Amino acid sequence: MTGAQPGWQGDAEAIAGKTMQAIAAASTMEALRQVEVRAVGRQGEISLLMRQIPTIPPAERKAFGQLVNRLQQEAEAALAQRKEQLIQALIDAELADDTFDVTLPGIARPRGHVHPLALVTDKVESVFTSMGFHVLDYPEVESEFNNFEALNIPSWHPARDMQDTFWLDDGHLLRTHTSSGQVRTMHQFAPPFRAIFPGKVFRYEATDASHEHTFHQVEGLMIDRHVSVAHLLDSMRTLLTAILERDVEIRLRPGYFPFVEPGFELDISCQVCGGKGCPVCKQSGWLELLPCGLVHPQVLRAGGLDPAEWQGWAFGLGLSRLVMMRYGVPDVRLLLSGDARFLSAF
Ligand code: PHE
Repeated sequence: MTGAQPGWQGDAEAIAGKTMQAIAAASTMEALRQVEVRAVGRQGEISLLMRQIPTIPPAERKAFGQLVNRLQQEAEAALAQRKEQLIQALIDAELADDTFDVTLPGIARPRGHVHPLALVTDKVESVFTSMGFHVLDYPEVESEFNNFEALNIPSWHPARDMQDTFWLDDGHLLRTHTSSGQVRTMHQFAPPFRAIFPGKVFRYEATDASHEHTFHQVEGLMIDRHVSVAHLLDSMRTLLTAILERDVEIRLRPGYFPFVEPGFELDISCQVCGGKGCPVCKQSGWLELLPCGLVHPQVLRAGGLDPAEWQGWAFGLGLSRLVMMRYGVPDVRLLLSGDARFLSAF
């Protein structure tokens, strides 16, 4: 063995030296990437050195392999370091650039909107809670008992036809009104109590601009001693004035529902013309708003209460209707359409 360098060592080191220079000279990320491909890519010069092993005399192969490995590691370390330098230089340049205006407003991203039904529900809930009402949540899938029987609507009762029902295979149903929670509440709380229960209700109906198979109601129920129609009238006026945020006149007309006695349709003074008469109220000065009445003794009994001791009033407010009145929505089907153009108007 002579002490002289084998020829391959000089070749390999020359290639590595050239690569190091190219790395140092690369002034952009793209240039650096090209150097990387040329040196350590699959067909890169350093990678190809490794494949020369069969041409090296066997006694020198180990030393050759070690050298190429080292050169490759050095090249990769240099590439990584240069990459960091270039990134840092980019950041520095951007910060130093005095055309960078930190007072520019950011990029506006489209924002979500609270659904008008949620807006109105929140409002109704806050008015009622401020007056001592519980806000309750009851199931949408109900028993026939809670939705009908307990409300004085036995299966043969013609009033069942007023609310076409989605029946489930197991005999349950989708509640047709939030009144399904009345008897639940009577079982849940000891009287006196007052509560509202908002939620979705379902009717097996063809849809049009004023009918939807799924819509929203809020039920109000108050149970106490010596409750009369005078309480109902005054409570309704106070509540509606708070919800609509203006003085409203109300009037009651007789209305029939098997679970209230007496039952009423409640009208409010027309919010458009102030009661003088206009096309919206069909010149009457009144708008029909909600049905209500005194809780029927049969319902109190179904709820385990003695009608001689306890009475109450109940109302069923159509939230979908209220939203339409409040925001001038022309078609109830828009409410559940999920149409972003509609929602973005709120
Ligand atoms: N549940 C009735 C309906 O949806 C409305 C109602 C509620 C009437 C409470 C009177 C009292 O048609």
